[in-house]
Amino acid sequence: MQTVLIRDIGQYEGKKVTLKGWLYNRRSSGKIQFLIIRDGTGFIQGVMVQAESDPEIYELAASIPQESSIEVQGTVKRDARSPLGYELVLENIVLISEAKDYPISLKEHGVDFLLDHRHLWLRTPRQVAIMRIRNTVVKALRDWLDSRGFCLVDAPILTPAACEGTTTLFETDYFGEKAYLSQSGQLYMEAAAMALGRVYCFGPTFRAEKSKTRRHLIEFWMLEPEMAFVEHEENLAIQEEIVKYVIRTVLEKHRQDLELLQRDISRLEKVLEKPFARMSYDAAIEYLQSQGHDIQWGDDFGAPDETALANLHDGPVFVERFPAAIKAFYMKPDPQRPEVVLAADLLAPEGYGEIIGGSQRIDDMDLLLQRIKEHNLPEEAFQWYLDLRRYGSVPHSGFGIGLERFITWICGLSHLRETIPFPRLLNRIYP
Ligand code: 4AD
Ligand code: MG
Repeated sequence: MQTVLIRDIGQYEGKKVTLKGWLYNRRSSGKIQFLIIRDGTGFIQGVMVQAESDPEIYELAASIPQESSIEVQGTVKRDARSPLGYELVLENIVLISEAKDYPISLKEHGVDFLLDHRHLWLRTPRQVAIMRIRNTVVKALRDWLDSRGFCLVDAPILTPAACEGTTTLFETDYFGEKAYLSQSGQLYMEAAAMALGRVYCFGPTFRAEKSKTRRHLIEFWMLEPEMAFVEHEENLAIQEEIVKYVIRTVLEKHRQDLELLQRDISRLEKVLEKPFARMSYDAAIEYLQSQGHDIQWGDDFGAPDETALANLHDGPVFVERFPAAIKAFYMKPDPQRPEVVLAADLLAPEGYGEIIGGSQRIDDMDLLLQRIKEHNLPEEAFQWYLDLRRYGSVPHSGFGIGLERFITWICGLSHLRETIPFPRLLNRIYP
């Protein structure tokens, strides 16, 4: 008998098949057992009627504890009431491994309890839906880039210097020298862009940020494209296209998952309808002041500020041309107004905050050196980076998409901790 996956079950209507998986849940009604079986690719209801079954097997069906691993045989039957469209008329069950006293029951649990049991929490339908959407988001991002001539180039994780400011560095000992876990692969992508034109890296990044918000992870995944001969305007156009492509792809492939997550799908559909809004930092500050926010020109936005700006629009908004003083050392000043930089943050709608940070980079050797000094960065560690301006410097731009922030918005979650398999949070490195 053929062993099949639940996702393919529709191909086997009327046939006898074997399924291998786990018992997710059981209901019984009189002399019938309903077993919800999951195999990682889906959930299916198995039905066993006492009058038609081997008594020993029926007894097993009635007593196997939740999350035990099982192998079952049965006949695939169309069932219009099930979300899958099919159920399995069970004939045989083999217990592979009994799960005694599974700690996560199907009732509500507190978040700390669930995070302590993240290794098991991952098995629930909601978490499975989020992980599958995460997979699609990564694939869509990469497909879009790969089909436009971008080349994946991997950046190192152990680095000799800071990229995004020295306050959030994770320090480690590198055989007697100081090294840091990467905050961003960007600087290495700039080197790669001078070799390959259009590149991107995708990997984990680390920020030793003492923030305990629903938008911050200590370890998060970032996708960072970098493009030679691309300037500020084109940089934003590319960001808009890729974000829309990912949302369109998720809407096409994951309607059921989004419904399971109770996502208001119409809010995502709206994002595809028109160009992303633009707002200057100046205008943003003026607006926030008019709304009574305590903020001055030259201040960075806090979460409530970002939410207020995002609420002006029903799609994402680019806030551009920030004061140079509050942004990273590598950002290129606007030639018309050197006190601001050619950078933009993309704020997601519905209060999800910044999902992309990007900028045109300084291509002038002298200015870059001056900035490195102003930021008290160790000049020696940046000699290789300065070489990119010494030898054939060109205008170039790039951006970083925070994967978990993006998924949090797409899924409409209240906290980004569910979007990463094993979140590293301020007070959590277990499991
Ligand atoms: O704005 P950030 O710090 O930009 C950079 O690192 C640039 N070097 C990117 C580039 O131009 N190549 O980070 C980019 C994005 C943010 O917009 C946010 O989505 C995400 O990374 N991010 C975080 N996500 C989760 N937890 C954190 N602590 C994050 N910090 C940034
Ligand atoms: Mg940023």
